[in-house]
Amino acid sequence: MSNQKTFTQTEIAPLGSLDEWEEDVLKRYPENETPAKAKEAFRNYEDPARDTVKEFYRLNHTYQTYDFVQAKRNEFLQFSKKEMPVWEAFQFLNQLVDDSDPDTDLDQFQHLLQTSEAIRADGHPDWMVAVGLVHDMGKVLCLFGEPQWAVVGDTFPVGCAHSDKIVYPEFFAYNPDTNDPGLNTTLGIYKSNCGLRNVTMSWGHDEYVYQILKHSLPEPGLYMLRYHSFYAWHREGAYDYLLDDHDREMLTWVKLFNPYDLYSKNPVPPDWTKLKPYYEELVGKYLPSMLKF
Ligand SMILES: [Fe+2]
Ligand SMILES: [Fe+2]
Repeated sequence: MSNQKTFTQTEIAPLGSLDEWEEDVLKRYPENETPAKAKEAFRNYEDPARDTVKEFYRLNHTYQTYDFVQAKRNEFLQFSKKEMPVWEAFQFLNQLVDDSDPDTDLDQFQHLLQTSEAIRADGHPDWMVAVGLVHDMGKVLCLFGEPQWAVVGDTFPVGCAHSDKIVYPEFFAYNPDTNDPGLNTTLGIYKSNCGLRNVTMSWGHDEYVYQILKHSLPEPGLYMLRYHSFYAWHREGAYDYLLDDHDREMLTWVKLFNPYDLYSKNPVPPDWTKLKPYYEELVGKYLPSMLKF
């Protein structure tokens, strides 16, 4: 691996907490809003918190190059960082505390549980409830010292031109891949309709959790894990030329999952003591007893 750049603390953590990114996504895609109206509102809204989100995207779009992603894959997909039983992994994830607003924000586990409970309440299959419960487990990357913009944020393909449907597309002007003739054409290194399985995505918690659990859940669930932050695809319809029929079929599932992730947040935490037996059984059914990070 060639000499990797070291980042300053402000470059590692431009956001007060990871939740700032999600709150911004929620403003971009508000519940029960027509897409055109919502987009207009998003373009116009002013909020001091948004400057940190903007800076977050500047860093994300600048540094998530094809080479950066390969280096991260080489490092993390060996799964040699940590090995933990599932419930310990949830506790580990919860060390990611939000210090910007400790009173109103729920911890990571509460978000996972609210997502899974909303899926369960709507009567979806139990494997999808399991997806809800683990979908953000990849955020442990932050606890391994990874910069926020290499953990969360909208994801996008690397190795080909960046779609202008990605949020803040103007920041891709700072990405060296934009000036690389091998990587900056519509298809770049890919073949037309090669299927997303052959496409490398920007590095973050989606790909990481997918790789950790790719032998444990049914295919639609794996798509939900792997592409839940690929908003340019599942919300904006970009990158059709990379998709194959299988991706198009799976898109329905990714779209089904997204509202549970975005709109299930509730200030009242679920009653864990009541829910525990159900989730212990569910975890036993779908997840390996030890998780390798
Ligand atoms: Fe997520
Ligand atoms: Fe989430």
